Amino acid sequence: MALTPSRVIRGHIEPESAYHRAEIETGGHPPVRLNWNESPFGLSPKAQAAYDAFHTGNVYPAIEQAELRLAIARYLGVDADRLIVGAGLDDVINTLAMTVIDPGTEVIINEPTFGVYRSLFELHGAVVTDIPLGDSPDYALPVDGIIDHASERTRLIIVCNPNNPTGTLFDQEDIVRIIESVDCLVAIDEAYAEFSGVSHTELADRYDNVITLRTMSKFAGLAGFRVGYGVFPDALMPWFRRAAPAFFNISAPAAAVATASLDDLDHLRANADRIVSERDRLAAALNALDGVTVIPSATNFLLVALPGPDAMPFVSALAQEGLLVRGYDDPGLRHTIRISIGLPEHHDQLVAVLERKIASHKEGIVAS
Ligand SMILES: Cc1ncc(COP(=O)(O)O)c(C=O)c1O
Repeated sequence: MALTPSRVIRGHIEPESAYHRAEIETGGHPPVRLNWNESPFGLSPKAQAAYDAFHTGNVYPAIEQAELRLAIARYLGVDADRLIVGAGLDDVINTLAMTVIDPGTEVIINEPTFGVYRSLFELHGAVVTDIPLGDSPDYALPVDGIIDHASERTRLIIVCNPNNPTGTLFDQEDIVRIIESVDCLVAIDEAYAEFSGVSHTELADRYDNVITLRTMSKFAGLAGFRVGYGVFPDALMPWFRRAAPAFFNISAPAAAVATASLDDLDHLRANADRIVSERDRLAAALNALDGVTVIPSATNFLLVALPGPDAMPFVSALAQEGLLVRGYDDPGLRHTIRISIGLPEHHDQLVAVLERKIASHKEGIVAS
């Protein structure tokens, strides 16, 4: 007897439409990934040494991940007992969703923002409400809209600061106003904190409804190892710990590499500084191009508005040279691309390709 999906699949889950994702055509060039906000740098020396020395793959990781959590606690200046770690920040957000979402309860987000929030919370049966950010280039946080909308049904508000994909940084006073005005959880995703220089850990200390979320994927260059973490309210820890997976889903080599990275902070901070100065150099070069506007960024990527209503021809032209950048289908972002900060030589090439493409784009407009 044939099994019908509806017999076994949860009713609210939509099937994945892009199940077989097409490979991007790079015209035979090796792909340069400027589309995932990864670090262009390898492991720090101490992290590399820990990776090379790892030899205990036959035994389970430390059940409490005590060493890693202690290293993070020292780094942030918080109590290790308030830390939930996970296989990337996505996994920590999953633990958050597992713990707070009853089907039909609400999560408020502010689009355009990190796409995983909607996708993941809807998977858990939440009603995800978008209170959109203001218009470009400020993309202001709709503080009053969030406060007015939040109700008894709202379990969680997620503020991404700085925000992906806009790169913009909201005022801390605005976030505090939300925190003080609502009686639900407010999670601040600061995946890019090390590039913005702004931390909200102090808010997680001051308010019992605040969670701060971070990752080792970006500034520490550990995207492939999958290590993220969050600072959670003390009083709710027994519930979050109940929902967190065994070993916090972190493999032993990933824990060893992450712990060693946090012992190599001078190296990581120097890398973050290099990325920030290269970001500013690239932003200036792009802003000098005809019809191009770079949104001011506090992250390791730039959102760039290109001439014309649709940036996809630019995405394809760059891909043909091996340069992968992120394009968007959403109407509000269709004229933009997001460029992760990589190496200067790749940026120089990218600016040259865009300049040529913009010139031919203008000729096309004049000719038609
Ligand atoms: C805002 C934001 N939060 C969370 C994540 C997920 O990070 P991780 O690699 O730790 O799962 C990302 C990754 O791009 C991100 O941009």
